[in-house]
Amino acid sequence: MLHQFTSHFLRHTAPSRRHLTPELLLRLVTPACALWAARAEDSPFADPYWGFYWPGGQATARYILDNAAIIKNRSVLDVGCGCGAGAIAAAMSNARTVVANDIDPFAVMATNINAELNKTKVETSTEDYIGKSCDDFDVILIGDMFYDEEFASILFAWLNRLSADNKMILIGDPGRHGLTEGRRSQMTLLASYELPQETRDENNGFTHTTVWQLNKL
Ligand SMILES: C[S@@+](CC[C@H](N)C(=O)[O-])C[C@H]1O[C@@H](n2cnc3c(N)ncnc32)[C@H](O)[C@@H]1O
Repeated sequence: MLHQFTSHFLRHTAPSRRHLTPELLLRLVTPACALWAARAEDSPFADPYWGFYWPGGQATARYILDNAAIIKNRSVLDVGCGCGAGAIAAAMSNARTVVANDIDPFAVMATNINAELNKTKVETSTEDYIGKSCDDFDVILIGDMFYDEEFASILFAWLNRLSADNKMILIGDPGRHGLTEGRRSQMTLLASYELPQETRDENNGFTHTTVWQLNKL
């Protein structure tokens, strides 16, 4: 499947600017694509997370594009990059280096195609960084990864260690249950954005999405 991915990807996605960062053209599974309404058994992909631009990722990318100075000349790791928008936004904001990371190899392939579409270049990695020290990075992007409590707890403990090690941690999230009040109390709200009206159904009814910075303990 890996070697056929590009042709499947191009067939089942469409270029889209229907999101919070219309300056990025991203190939996504949109309502115009047959895959949008396909039954799971008819899909060539098991879990095409990379075919969607999650509201959490939209928030971090929007924030970076509007506040490019925080990224300029810094080394950025986009963990769970999905379609790659956070990494692409960082590259467009003149980051020194950008690594788009996802444990799903299809996500990094989608990211490479989307990066090229936006005339940017990002490095990619399928390494599982969670739990690791990330010495090579100044800024860690987390777009919509608090969707599951068990994972959120492991992720949050790791992010706190990185923050204590002076990394800037930016978290985009529309209000998933893993971003509990307790966890939010250790963060600073940087921005809140209204999601485009016409995309609210595909965003599980979320009307807003937010970006937070994890405080240093
Ligand atoms: C909900 S999607 C969000 C994608 C993107 N950040 C966005 O907001 O559009 C979560 C992504 O995290 C990836 N992921 C899950 N566990 C991971 C891990 N341990 N390391 C890196 N990526 C991971 C998944 O493969 C998926 O692409």
